Formats: sequence, C-alpha cells, structure tokens
Amino acid sequence: MMSASRRTSIRSYHIRTFGCQMNVHDSEHVAGLCEQMGYEWTGSADEADLLIFNTCCVRQGAEDRLWGNLASLAHAEGARGLVAVCGCVAESRGVEILARFPEVGLVFGMEALGRLPQLIERSLVARVCDTGEVEEAEIDALPARRENTLRARVPVSHGCDNNCAYCVVPLVRGGERSRPASDIVEEVGALARAGVVEIELLGQNVNSYGGDLDEKVSFAEILGRVAGVPGIRRVKFETSHPRDLGREVLVAMSECGPLCEYLHLPVQSGSDRVLKAMNRGYDAGYYKETAALARQIVPGIKITTDIIVGFPGEDREDFERTLDLVRTVEFDAAYMFMYSPREGTPAWLLEDDVPVAEKKRRLAELSRLQGKITVNSLEKMSGARVEVLVEGLGRDPGQVVGRTRGNQVVVLDGSEAPLESLVTARVVSAGRHSLKGRVYEVLLEGGRQGTRRE
Ligand code: 5AD
Ligand code: SF4
Repeated sequence: MMSASRRTSIRSYHIRTFGCQMNVHDSEHVAGLCEQMGYEWTGSADEADLLIFNTCCVRQGAEDRLWGNLASLAHAEGARGLVAVCGCVAESRGVEILARFPEVGLVFGMEALGRLPQLIERSLVARVCDTGEVEEAEIDALPARRENTLRARVPVSHGCDNNCAYCVVPLVRGGERSRPASDIVEEVGALARAGVVEIELLGQNVNSYGGDLDEKVSFAEILGRVAGVPGIRRVKFETSHPRDLGREVLVAMSECGPLCEYLHLPVQSGSDRVLKAMNRGYDAGYYKETAALARQIVPGIKITTDIIVGFPGEDREDFERTLDLVRTVEFDAAYMFMYSPREGTPAWLLEDDVPVAEKKRRLAELSRLQGKITVNSLEKMSGARVEVLVEGLGRDPGQVVGRTRGNQVVVLDGSEAPLESLVTARVVSAGRHSLKGRVYEVLLEGGRQGTRRE
C-alpha cells in the first residue's frame, strides 16, 4: 500500500542510524549531502520530508529493528515523505526491501552516496535501488555534518580482511582498503583548522592498516602523524584486533600526549577452543598478556571489549573460561552479545546448538559479573581530575554528558559545562555506567578558548 499522499518536495530530513561507529560516520556524510541540497535537519522522524534509515546487519537483532521500523511506517497516518534505506542491509537485501515495503522509495549503498542528489530526484518520481560501485576516496571527500564541532570521526580503512567465523562485515563491506596516509593526515589537518580537537580514527581492524598499500606506513606511524597535527588534543581509535595490536602502538600511546589512554580490544571468548572455531588467530593466554602489557606500558589505560556468548559448540566449560578471562582482565566496560547466525558467514554452516534460553542465561551471568567490574572501575575514579569533551544533553534536564580520555561517560551540570566544550572536572561520584563530575575549568568552548570557573 502506498501512503495516501507523498510529499513531492523536500525541505527537511531525519536519519536513524543503527550499528557501529563506521555507520555513524557514514550518516554524517549523508547528512552533509542533505545540508548541501538545502534540506534542514529535523528531530522528528514523523515530520521529515526525507526519512533515511542507515542500517546494520551484524546481528539479527539490529536487522529486526529495521524491519519493525519499516513495518510501522505502513500504519503511520497522514502524508509520508520519501523513505530511504542505506547501509549494510541495503547492500545485502536491497531488492527485498523494495519488494516488502511499498513505503520505501529509495535504497542505496554507500558507494552510491556521491549520486544521492540525483537518486533523490529520481525517487520522487519512481522507486530506485542503487547499490553500484565508485571509489571510496570520493566518498571520504564528500561533505559531512558532524554533531559536534570539537570532535570528528575519520576512517583509516574500509572493509575487513579477516574471516571471523561469525562475522558478516567482510561480506557486506568487502576486503580491507586502507586510505593513503596523506589523505588521512590532510583530512585531520582540515578538521583541526575548522576547530576540531578530538579525532576518532575508524577501521574494522585499525592495526592491520597499510598492509594493502604500496607505501609502507604502519598504524603506529599514522597515530604519530595525526597526533602531531597542530590543534589536535585527543586521538582515539577503534577497533583493534588483539592479534595485530603491536607493541609500537602501545608505546606511541604512552609517549604521545594527544593519544588517549583508551583501547577497545574485542576478545569475543575466553575459551581457546571457541576462539579457534571463531578463527580469531590468538588464544586466551595471548590476549591476557596483551591486555597486561597495555596496562603496563600505558598507565591508567581503560580497556573495553566485545564478547559473544553461545557460539556454536560453546559448552559450560568454555563459558566458564570466558568468565575467568573477564575476572582476570577486569575490563573497564564490555559490550556483550548472544551469538546470532548470519547467512553467508563460515559459522552459518555450523549448527546453532546453544538454546536461546541458555544463551540468555549466559549473557545475564556475564553481564552481572562485568557489571560489578565496571562499577569498580568507575569507583576507582572518585576524586580524580578528568578532562571531559562534552558531547550532548544528559537524561535529566540541565545535565550534559561527555567522555574522558579513557572514554568513560561523565555527567555534568549544563550550567557549568556548555555543549561542545572541553572541560576539566573532578569526579564526585560513580554510578553503574557513568561518573558524575563537577567542572573545574572550561578549556575550550565551541572551538574557542574558554574561561576558568570561579
Ligand atoms: N553474533 C553476535 N555478535 C556478533 N558480533 C559480530 N557478529 C556477530 C554475530 N553474528 C559482535 C562481535 C563484534 C561486535 C561488533 O559485534 O562481538 O566485535
Ligand atoms: Fe568482523 Fe572479525 Fe573483521 Fe571484526 S575483525 S569486522 S569481527 S571479520
């Protein structure tokens, strides 16, 4: 069923983004193009003339949320603007989306981003699906609308060359393509001149950066060069693969002021047997040594991780080993998932033999354990002086939230810390997921020099 009437001109747009930081970054380019076309951002998905879903298919749950969102559009009242779907699900199931959801007028892959203006024009007349190829360099060069003037995400590579048995990313995003070092450093330079002080370097596996380039530049060198750009005060990066994380990256983090004391290092499992079946290329002992080395070389480093429970064949003993590893490493925070079979991945061929109820029990048990460890990690920060980049509004009125150099979330009083500012604060208390702080000094405000609070 097509909506009763469809708006034929576009003045406003809204984007809903699912999935990883790379998707968030892609959405910034989509938004940048929308702004360039003269559309205005609206916070309301219902009222937008153009509603875009940037999708993720890494787990079934994320895909189901998209289907739920699209299904509910069919029941929405009133005139509906143009609905577009882009990102990973668009790449893998574009035609199916158009077939199942008459409300969707446009499906495009990220490679088609440069053609977005023409695609939108065309889809006001007829439904369009474009998942064709162009050079990534062209996409990286497209305008972006960043949600914060002080921080920006910069990809160092696209795609992934690994073959982790559960993971659909290499199938939808392709093999690893590193950006030339000079492109990355130039982009960071331009951002710094525009007032950006924090850079987050993105890649599915940042540590294998450069393997596919003629020019031999390591990720550690990229870190050094980015951190050396005048005006850049904080550099974070994700995601690191434990197998490829070299000592030189840790040494760079300890020596180079702007490199933040933060490492996202997905372990996935604590069982050697499961790690082997996942094709991760390291065992639990190696992971523990790497994490210990990171803590030794980079004092005060915060380490976070991803863990999957219920991978095919995972028995109680394997799971106990995961709990063991979590107790040993004491992650500052962890993202924990139930295994979700993805078509086309190597593990798709294995029997998904851990019952859902058991996966849920393991996830709950693991979350309880990690929850306590996270609280301990936060409590250790009590009284500490931290530097916080304020990123957005908090849950309660008058509050703002930001992140420390170690990536811990800090809630501050909005009257003390303006949105889009860099401040120093004293940690006054610790909650279950975040810290509460009192601002000591506003260092930068919207890219300008700030003032000391009396
Ligand atoms: N099932 C469950 N979790 C998955 N992840 C990736 N693929 C799957 C899957 N099929 C998790 C991994 C990865 C994170 C981004 O998502 O832990 O690190
Ligand atoms: Fe997926 Fe493994 Fe590549 Fe990460 S490293 S994107 S988990 S294949």
